[in-house]
Amino acid sequence: MGDVKKLFIKTYGCQMNVYDSERMAEAMGGAGYVETQTPDDADMILLNTCHIREKAAEKVYSELGRFRDLKTANPDLKIGVAGCVAQAEGEEIMRRQPLVDLVVGPQSYHRLPQMEAKVRAGGTALDTDFPTDDKFDTLRHRPKAARGPTAFLTVQEGCDKFCAFCVVPYTRGAEVSRPASRILEEARNLVERGVREITLLGQNVNAYHGAGEGGGDWTLARLIWALNDIDGLERIRFTTSHPNDMGDDLIAAHGECAKLMPYLHLPVQSGSDKILKRMNRSHTAESYLRLIERIRAARPDILLSGDFIVGFPEETEADFQATMDLVEEVNYGYAYSFKYSTRPGTPAAERAQVEEDVKSERLQRLQALITRQQRAIQDAMVGRTVGVLFEKPGRLEGQMMGKSDYLHAVHVANADVAVGDLVPVEIIESGTNSLAGRLIRP
Ligand code: SAH
Ligand code: SF4
Ligand code: F3S
Repeated sequence: MGDVKKLFIKTYGCQMNVYDSERMAEAMGGAGYVETQTPDDADMILLNTCHIREKAAEKVYSELGRFRDLKTANPDLKIGVAGCVAQAEGEEIMRRQPLVDLVVGPQSYHRLPQMEAKVRAGGTALDTDFPTDDKFDTLRHRPKAARGPTAFLTVQEGCDKFCAFCVVPYTRGAEVSRPASRILEEARNLVERGVREITLLGQNVNAYHGAGEGGGDWTLARLIWALNDIDGLERIRFTTSHPNDMGDDLIAAHGECAKLMPYLHLPVQSGSDKILKRMNRSHTAESYLRLIERIRAARPDILLSGDFIVGFPEETEADFQATMDLVEEVNYGYAYSFKYSTRPGTPAAERAQVEEDVKSERLQRLQALITRQQRAIQDAMVGRTVGVLFEKPGRLEGQMMGKSDYLHAVHVANADVAVGDLVPVEIIESGTNSLAGRLIRP
């Protein structure tokens, strides 16, 4: 087996990149590569990158610099940059870091094997096209190897919303939905290989409008109902949703579809209508709150999570306070908050910026509030019985770790369960980042 080559992939950014990295590993499997967990013995290193904030992009260049010694030791080592930095910066990456042999944008992964052959022959390769052929179509044939109980499945890519701060419409291109039949086929394949929970992914997953089985476009809700019929699949989740694409059928599904989990990530970004308008979000704080009311009417125990940006250009203390008020009103089970980061080429980058120390101070206040809410919601789980899908052994002898229906991490001591078991667990304790539970014996 002297000609088996080793591939090391490091993934940054969102879950779509996690999914894409799996698919790239599969595509390269066809070209004679097996994955390795360390860059040290790799024949090829791929960084699957994120461009969402300045720090994310800078990390890529510092990581690349660290591969210099490896390349000196092994001149045959090939280094590639994939993902959103590859799309945004293209050839500039090779100019800035000559160690890089290959640059491939997120829509061109199916062309990786040809690109690899080209760099093996001594050249460099760059592909940041938005081809009309579907990358998933050629990346479609998954090997039959068994896998863990949870999986991501990309159903939609790209974004047409152009929020004024965001690079995604530029790095991922326009919204494209995969046909329902492909998604269902892939889901059945995953279930055959041991998967019991599927998280449907898209930059705007609820804008899904793929060709349906038997004609016409399907909505995300329609797709979820079709997945609900797959025997052996126990749980369905989806992320990330946009408030403007929460259709009535999707809201209703949260109340009616047994396998759809009571968790919804619904970013709002700000609680100030002035800022929302300047962000080009095309919803108001009020319309978001009314939407949350309707979702909670359909599924009262749903756990909500969100994303927030503080210090967007021209955000005043009053605007920030409006965000704090909105968070108070919603009561989030999880939330992610970020300081606004200027992204070259986006409209907001040109506007009057908020001082760095003001951003930091606002972020601290918001995060303190969010942490309090998260903790209170987590603590309120104590005494309740929830479904837990076990994913791996814990650090302690006999301990097993899994996720609850509400996506809380749960550990159970002396658990007589296997990875992949989905069983009722009584929550007995709430810690900093996880819950402790015990098995309910029938
Ligand atoms: N498609 C998703 C996620 C986009 S990126 C959505 O529409 O919600 C994930 C999060 O990163 C965003 O929700 C936003 O809160 C944050 N983000 C995006 N661009 C940013 C920027 N320039 N500065 C700071 N945070 C940003
Ligand atoms: Fe970015 Fe806005 Fe699109 Fe989300 S909806 S990916 S934040 S442009
Ligand atoms: Fe980052 Fe691209 Fe995802 S910019 S958040 S990896 S879509």
